[in-house]
Amino acid sequence: MSFSPLPDILRSDLARSRGGVVLELGAGDGRFTHVLAEAGADVIPLDCRLPCPAGGVLGDVRALPVRSGAVSLIVTANLLHHLGNAVAAVAALTAWLECLAPGGCLHVLQDDPLADTPARRNDRDLRDWLARLVPSRGRLIALEELRAALAGAGGPTGDRLAGWSFGRELNRTAPPDRDAVLAMLRGDGGKPDRRTAALAAAIAQDGLDYGWYWWARWRGGAAS
Ligand SMILES: C[S@@+](CC[C@H](N)C(=O)[O-])C[C@H]1O[C@@H](n2cnc3c(N)ncnc32)[C@H](O)[C@@H]1O
Repeated sequence: MSFSPLPDILRSDLARSRGGVVLELGAGDGRFTHVLAEAGADVIPLDCRLPCPAGGVLGDVRALPVRSGAVSLIVTANLLHHLGNAVAAVAALTAWLECLAPGGCLHVLQDDPLADTPARRNDRDLRDWLARLVPSRGRLIALEELRAALAGAGGPTGDRLAGWSFGRELNRTAPPDRDAVLAMLRGDGGKPDRRTAALAAAIAQDGLDYGWYWWARWRGGAAS
């Protein structure tokens, strides 16, 4: 899926990074790569699974095949919950920062589990349903969980949050087709379990809405 609109701060970092190396981690089928390209970025997509988008790199984000200080901008969308919980995500983020050139930036965009309408609650519950099904996939991480993990498991916020900024946007991307999702939940005619049937009924009634997404951006100090 995608994120629309992009945060203004990402747009300006993409513009500032022209000519440098821009890496997208967990690029999947390249949908978000395309959005970044439309925003003017020449992006190198990386994913651990084939097929990678054109010009992409096959690699594991837990051991990036990148020289220290070689990258101007790292962007990643909806990857963190594939790496485990917020603490595991922070370990990965900390390692990625090593790859950035002086003054480089890291941007993380994630669907927010905040469910403030029935259609957004359905979308969150659908992600939880998928997380139950796919062992490599965790539940969506909330921004507050990430901040707490960055700050040191909820301790006093101090230097560990230096360089970070955070925000939330309402995602205007059209949600997945309701009938296709209902067909997936109802399966091949077998009897779905109670939880699956309840989710299908809720989606049939109230639909789906991606709702909020959150972003986190880190910028290092410029070269001295
Ligand atoms: C939910 S998809 C997001 C795809 C894309 N960023 C988007 O927003 O449309 C997560 C992607 O992360 C990739 N991924 C998960 N763990 C990874 C890892 N350890 N290293 C590289 N890619 C990984 C998966 O293969 C998948 O393509």
